[in-house]
Amino acid sequence: MRLPVWLLSLLALVLQEAGPASLPKERRRGEERGHGESHAVAQPHAGSYLGSLDDYGEVIDLSNYEELADYGDQLAEVKETSLVPPTRISPTQSTVAPRTPLSNPAMTKPTLPGPLGSPTSLDLPTCLVCVCLGSSVYCDDIDLQNIPPLPRMTTYLYARFNRISRIRTADFQGLTKLKRIDLSSNFISSIDNDALHLLPALQDLILPENQLVALPMLPSGIKFLDVRLNRLRSSGIQPEAFRALEKLQFLYLADNLLDSIPWPLPLSLRSLHLQNNMIETLPRDAFCDPGEHRHIRRQLEDIRLDGNPINLSLFPSAYFCLPRLPVGRFS
Ligand SMILES: *[C@@H]1O[C@H](CO)[C@@H](O)[C@H](O)[C@H]1NC(C)=O
Repeated sequence: MRLPVWLLSLLALVLQEAGPASLPKERRRGEERGHGESHAVAQPHAGSYLGSLDDYGEVIDLSNYEELADYGDQLAEVKETSLVPPTRISPTQSTVAPRTPLSNPAMTKPTLPGPLGSPTSLDLPTCLVCVCLGSSVYCDDIDLQNIPPLPRMTTYLYARFNRISRIRTADFQGLTKLKRIDLSSNFISSIDNDALHLLPALQDLILPENQLVALPMLPSGIKFLDVRLNRLRSSGIQPEAFRALEKLQFLYLADNLLDSIPWPLPLSLRSLHLQNNMIETLPRDAFCDPGEHRHIRRQLEDIRLDGNPINLSLFPSAYFCLPRLPVGRFS
């Protein structure tokens, strides 16, 4: 069942009243779509789904109410961004009218008056289209084609199962609190190179099941990067892209088209998933510094190279510093 947008917004208000006992709908949605399974791999980090539960204390902080006021500044910007097909916005239309292409100018006049003032045309604030709970914004599965304008204090953004195809430089500009971006299962094929790397608080970048062939410059505080199930090629990873990411612990690049191991890997790394790629060979210094034989990389306990056309027995000198051998074919 799909709930109309106005109902979701109402629900958000009710949830805020109800306090921490209620769960955001996104957890249920994630499980229904069978996406939880792949995230189970991310357990050491407690994954994004579990994470959202942990974050709940923070989320429910009602002292963030002034965020609504922030919207005053942003209303003008909303005009430039198409949020959802207008057929979804009016509860009466959404059940009756067939889907109309976004470009149809005749349909850009929803009838719902905005709560923040005059009835507007398509420029509904994001928190009517999405569910805003404290500093979290939930926009799952509402046919978004772009990143919507976000409240300035947004900390967690969930916009999974949409039709977003590109991330632009302006999309996240000035969002200094943003810690997690989860855009799983969209159609993202490009991210402007400077769209993310200046976000000072960003820790989790979650982009599985998209169509990326390349990664943009990454922010230096990132801890968790999940780009599984894309079309990443080694040429789409900038040289030494991960070297300076001294907080990076989880790097999930499984199910892409990589033909080499990214190098160098930061010492902070705990988990490197490269299964189901096209890696055929392993340089001696892929994980360990050949000139530093006493050095042990204690953190890096979880390397997956299964599903690659490589015989790991052929590279015995590549593993001396690892606490555990990589998972993969050794015969
Ligand atoms: C993998 O390498 C080992 C060690 O050289 C060798 O004994 C084994 O036959 C190789 N396996 C394949 C399938 O080539």
